Amino acid sequence: MLTAEKISKYLTEPITVSVFETLESTNRTAREFAAGKREHLIIARSQSGGRGRLGRSFFSPNGGLYMSLLLYPQSDITDVSLITSAAAVAVSRAIECVADVKCEIKWVNDIYIEGKKVCGILTEGQMRSDGMLDYAILGIGVNLLPPTCGFPEDIASRAGSLFDELPTDTDNILAATIVNEFMLLYRSGLDKELFLDEYRSRSCLIGREIDVMRIVGGEMKSAVAVGIDDNCRLVVRYDDGTTEALESGDVTIRAT
Ligand code: BTN
Repeated sequence: MLTAEKISKYLTEPITVSVFETLESTNRTAREFAAGKREHLIIARSQSGGRGRLGRSFFSPNGGLYMSLLLYPQSDITDVSLITSAAAVAVSRAIECVADVKCEIKWVNDIYIEGKKVCGILTEGQMRSDGMLDYAILGIGVNLLPPTCGFPEDIASRAGSLFDELPTDTDNILAATIVNEFMLLYRSGLDKELFLDEYRSRSCLIGREIDVMRIVGGEMKSAVAVGIDDNCRLVVRYDDGTTEALESGDVTIRAT
């Protein structure tokens, strides 16, 4: 069972850890802790209103790991997307330490194993009036075990879990390893040399035909994903030959 004492034992640096049985959203609780100005790891064994990107919900029953890391980066809002990309690599490395699997990254924030989404990442930043970040919240949700009542119908075909049975203490080890791997990158100033090539090589989109949902306008456009640029943007080539580097948005792999 996830406990603050066990997670702290596996952490390589003394970050404050709080574990709750259930929360509405660990990202929301992290925001409430932000005035404390101390890095803090907030974990819930379940969430009643887990939040995903683009205003979506994140299904968060018992049997998952729902964590938010409260950070105080000395930088501007551009670091928020770098935090997400670095975290995607850190989570992939951590999962591969505890399970015999190969993680792929679906730009921008999803971790897939054998075609199923096992983890989502939502980073939220709070800006000060001078344009610098007051704080950032790195939220990570990992499906450890299959939900007892199954996944909801709308995600059932693409959601997966890491284990059928949880090996002893693996939830605590995974939580700490994710933080340890991420902190290595974060303490280096999010140096892209340390994670961008790996982010690219783990991408399950490059070379694939995809549908791009445009945030502005909301229409779908078909394209080919041609690469990840140095700012972690997804470079796509549309059917009319034009290219675009996407900052954010949602893409789906087209069924072949
Ligand atoms: C996504 O898949 O769109 C991102 C999902 C992020 C879910 C995590 S679970 C812990 C943290 N608390 C939340 O409410 N959301 C994030």
